[in-house]
Amino acid sequence: MIEISKKKSVLKLENLTIKFGGLTAVDSFNGYLNEGELVGLIGPNGAGKTTIFNMITGIYKPTFGNVIFNNIDITGMKPHVITHLGVARTFQNIRLFSEMTVLENVLVGEHSWLTNFAAQKVLYKHNPKVYRRPKWKPWFWSAVLKTPDYLKMEREMRDHALELLKAVDLERYANLKASALPYGPQRKLEIARALATKPMLLLLDEPAAGMNPQETQELLEFIENIRKRFSLTILLIEHDMKFVMGICERIYVLDYGKIIAHGLPKEIQNNKKVIEAYLGDEVYV
Ligand SMILES: Nc1ncnc2c1ncn2[C@@H]1O[C@H](COP(=O)(O)OP(=O)(O)OP(=O)(O)O)[C@@H](O)[C@H]1O
Ligand SMILES: [Mg+2]
Repeated sequence: MIEISKKKSVLKLENLTIKFGGLTAVDSFNGYLNEGELVGLIGPNGAGKTTIFNMITGIYKPTFGNVIFNNIDITGMKPHVITHLGVARTFQNIRLFSEMTVLENVLVGEHSWLTNFAAQKVLYKHNPKVYRRPKWKPWFWSAVLKTPDYLKMEREMRDHALELLKAVDLERYANLKASALPYGPQRKLEIARALATKPMLLLLDEPAAGMNPQETQELLEFIENIRKRFSLTILLIEHDMKFVMGICERIYVLDYGKIIAHGLPKEIQNNKKVIEAYLGDEVYV
């Protein structure tokens, strides 16, 4: 049984539903994540997992239902606003700027953290007692004119990006083209870029895909490390059952857009519906 935690709610998905023409890709999904949790989202191909990430991050607007992040209803908000509010993700297929250096890839995340006017407006509107009214800064002209303020900001971003690379053990590759990195470090770099936006909630879409068992084990330890170091709450999609069972505290199982099971890893492993729908012969014991 799942114990009801008294921890702060980070994410609530309420009756989340999306239809594409005649197909209901996600059907009344109800789920939650509390602060600091690492929760798995599993299910067969086409079950609707990535679509849930796309609704949380504002890429798709749900047909019904709500996404509540940090007690703010973010349903239908623009992706960049949601990023600034503290939600970051990685993609199923690695999406790096391959011609840019490793450091520049992280700086892309830093830039998005700076231009957060819209997100500050949302926070201020949500709770004017806690959040300050945002001040518009003409960053465009500061950048063109290279004002001292802008140069200072640029230095700070660079320092923060380097610090981040150090934290994820990629510092030695900082000036290498992203495309020159081996596969495992590329995945780590994508996570580092997501961390540059200073998220509270990190969504990882099949981070272990294409990795060998040793790389997968390293990734598992890596995720545990960054989770603690950056005080993250994590929702993880993954097909590698050993990985999922080894790292997740709770798991949602999706099949044809519907939750068919929710529970602790042990409960999920022994759930008949899950075995039938998803695990089949490959049941992990
Ligand atoms: N933009 C779209 N237009 C139409 N159908 C879509 C769209 N996005 C997703 N779908 C459909 O929604 C369903 C769920 O897709 P989704 O990518 O979320 O599955 P998934 O669980 O992530 O699968 P996989 O494990 O293969 O990544 C699929 O049938 C897919 O074809
Ligand atoms: Mg997917």
